[in-house]
Amino acid sequence: MTQTENLPAYPTLSPAELRHPDSLKWTLYAEDVIPMWIADMDFPVAPPILAALSERLERSLGYHQLMGDKVLDSLLRAKLDTHGLSGLPEGGLAMLPGVVPGIYASVAALTQPGERVLTMTPVYHPFHLSITGLGREVAAVPLLDGSGGYEIDWDGMEAAAQDARLMLLCHPHNPTGRVWTHDELEKLRDLVVRHDLYVLSDELHADLRFTEGPFESFAAAERVRDRTITVTGPCKAFNTAGLGIGVLIGHDAELVKRVRAAAGGLMGHEGAMSVTMWQAALRDGGPWLADTVAYLRANRDFLTEYLREHLPAVRFHPVESTYLAWLDLRDCPRAGDMQTFLLEEARVAVHDGPTFAPEEFKAPSQGFVRLNFATSREILTEALERLRRALDGAQ
Ligand SMILES: Cc1ncc(COP(=O)(O)O)c(C=O)c1O
Repeated sequence: MTQTENLPAYPTLSPAELRHPDSLKWTLYAEDVIPMWIADMDFPVAPPILAALSERLERSLGYHQLMGDKVLDSLLRAKLDTHGLSGLPEGGLAMLPGVVPGIYASVAALTQPGERVLTMTPVYHPFHLSITGLGREVAAVPLLDGSGGYEIDWDGMEAAAQDARLMLLCHPHNPTGRVWTHDELEKLRDLVVRHDLYVLSDELHADLRFTEGPFESFAAAERVRDRTITVTGPCKAFNTAGLGIGVLIGHDAELVKRVRAAAGGLMGHEGAMSVTMWQAALRDGGPWLADTVAYLRANRDFLTEYLREHLPAVRFHPVESTYLAWLDLRDCPRAGDMQTFLLEEARVAVHDGPTFAPEEFKAPSQGFVRLNFATSREILTEALERLRRALDGAQ
């Protein structure tokens, strides 16, 4: 496949435009390194968001607490309806200054110190960091590498759920890109009912899907609604992580209140510009999002083909969601220091696999890396060529 064969028209940015002092992604490493680590996309701000933010700056920036709830309420409810989260009560939404604070607040509110929290591994690192940081215990179950993609180890989950209090679910899953199917969700729902677990479902990546049909929230089924807190926000789909905002969602308004109260005044409130940004994204961001997902899908396909053709030693299951590729390089000679090797020899910065594992699973995660492919096709191609040269050289 040539570099541009399957490429939809889309505005992307060059390294010179991206490497500015406000970008952590592009300034952490030396100038000759291609940064494919942190989950930011190398794309310009969506025009409707840019317009709304510029317009917002002409008005006051005074206190606006509780405005987020008012401004976003009906837009969010309409969106959540499409995920199966209809009928949310008054008090079923509570704004957050980001999604991660919602993970911490849920662990704090729904468990006691020393209790066990069920999750899968690998997983987005604040999952296990929130559990250990708050003095709880991680009950992590490794995902299985099935022939068609990563799979849940049902026996492992059953065993680990025995003495757990809460399950943290990442849906879609960062870093494997899985979107849990209806059948998998049903089995997870049975599990949490059987073991009487609370659930925190992080659905931040739901809009970056390559699967057909509407997204199914974990809490879309009646029988788990009242034990589930869902968290989401605009920062992945709309590339707005610098404007922190998120929301706690629940059918049991008392539970939402309890979780929000666990952070109390420590958490702070969402910023005025972030509310305006999310409003613009929900109201007018659809076409931009569709173009972005089309571009990401084409990059995913290109990456998949490239790895199959040129780097068969790298195991990769094409992701169903997210722009993050979980690459298994354990068969490569330098698997023991893979992230450093790729940084030094390929001049490509990726996230190291063990980052996404709790302490006891760090060793088995060695040799995996997470690569962010939300960049121009030109940069992606250059990065893959560099990986190929470095990995070929290491044979
Ligand atoms: C699953 C997941 N949850 C939460 C976050 C971060 O959310 P926030 O920046 O709003 O705290 C990320 C960032 O990549 C993520 O992948």
